[in-house]
Amino acid sequence: MKNVVVTGSQWGDEGKGKIVDWLSSEADIIVRFQGGHNAGHTLVIDDKVFKLHLLPSGIIRKNKISIIGNGVVIDPWALSNEIDELRSKGIEITENNLFISDTANLILPIHKEMDEIREDQAGKSKIGTTRRGIGPAYEDKVGRRGIRVGDLASESALNQKLEKILLHHNSIRKGLEKKIYNKDQIKKELLDIAPKILKYSMPIWKKLDEFKSKKILFEGAQGVLLDVDHGTYPFVTSSNTVSAAAAIGSGCGANRIDYVLGITKAYTTRVGEGPFPTELKDSIGAKIGDKGKEFGTTTSRKRRCGWLDGILVRQSVKISGINGIALTKLDVLDELEEIKMCVSYELKGKKIDYLPSSIEEQLNLKPIYKSFEGWKCSTKGIKKFNDLPDKAKIYIKDIEKFVETKISCISTSPERKDTILIEDPFNI
Ligand code: GDP
Ligand code: IMO
Ligand code: MG
Repeated sequence: MKNVVVTGSQWGDEGKGKIVDWLSSEADIIVRFQGGHNAGHTLVIDDKVFKLHLLPSGIIRKNKISIIGNGVVIDPWALSNEIDELRSKGIEITENNLFISDTANLILPIHKEMDEIREDQAGKSKIGTTRRGIGPAYEDKVGRRGIRVGDLASESALNQKLEKILLHHNSIRKGLEKKIYNKDQIKKELLDIAPKILKYSMPIWKKLDEFKSKKILFEGAQGVLLDVDHGTYPFVTSSNTVSAAAAIGSGCGANRIDYVLGITKAYTTRVGEGPFPTELKDSIGAKIGDKGKEFGTTTSRKRRCGWLDGILVRQSVKISGINGIALTKLDVLDELEEIKMCVSYELKGKKIDYLPSSIEEQLNLKPIYKSFEGWKCSTKGIKKFNDLPDKAKIYIKDIEKFVETKISCISTSPERKDTILIEDPFNI
């Protein structure tokens, strides 16, 4: 196996960053292919914590190539700040280890502001976005009026494109009685930041073609249930988060994907609004949230917590083509008397075994659980499957059977080294 895609199988924050960092010891190249700085990936290496938003998690390791693909939306100011912050922690980032697609679309201040305006006006029906401008930037990309990284190299291209994008945005802003954006002001800001971004810019597809003999790790952001097509629409992000997006969002053929690793938390969390059938609004949910330190990496919002939803993970396995699962945060369940997994739903008196597409139906699902005895001892830091308590093994084996794919690794703490390897995705 040469190329591995890491994809979240729930609503994000499954621990993708930790697993990508751990696996990247084996990869030559790490590629982000969708999303933007709505992502927050946490890496813990000895006593150091790194929180990455736009940069691939491989950037922390020496002698690795990091790539931001065309499918990512880039806020150039956020990227520049992230690079500076990591450099201040001693991480080397140069034109030799970071490449950015010249066709990636930019997030502009108008996008962030539009995200905020919409969320503020939506009241109770808000999505609970990260307010980073992700949705509005993808809309402009698909609307064919986006500004791309490569455009930063030409003042005349910027001029023309800004006219087009501002015609659209200023018409809406007028209707909303918001301040009209001035082209020269944005152009100046973009030209000022341009040199900091352009030095990494290139046709990424060409680079990936050159790297045919190398091992690539594609780092997904968010999770399958936040996918714009396959998730809990409209309570989703604005990109495709499934593994197939790795090829589109980086410019290589679908046949370059050899293995899909789905990251799955041993329970479920969600940030923002939207359906969550197994949500626990009681003291158990609060206990899981406390022990798991479930606060958003990007927005610091408290994450909603609940039991593992086997139905949803199984659906993600099928939709994203997951070959194996990395089960994370098992240690968070260590103290519980009883652990549950949702194995079916009841809807209007009938049993169903998948997530219906209608949001009204999603909101009315009653989870049916299978119960497991808690193991009530510490699994923190365990590195061998056989060292796990028997009751934890039963839970893991049952998940494996239910979601119809194998568990290839298990994470037992935030630390890079605390991971049980069962099947190495790069060496099958
Ligand atoms: P991502 O967005 O999928 O990369 O996940 P986040 O980094 O946003 O959130 C996962 C959180 O769980 C981070 O704080 C990680 O350090 C932490 N984490 C990852 N794996 C484990 C684990 O196995 N056990 C515990 N206790 N924490 C973990
Ligand atoms: P990582 O990569 C968890 C959620 C937001 C909101 C919805 C839409 O760290 O797993 P957006 O700003 O994308 O338009 O918000 O998606 N969301 C995430 N939730 N983890 C993430 O990324 C997320 N990125 C977006 O909370 O519900
Ligand atoms: Mg996160």
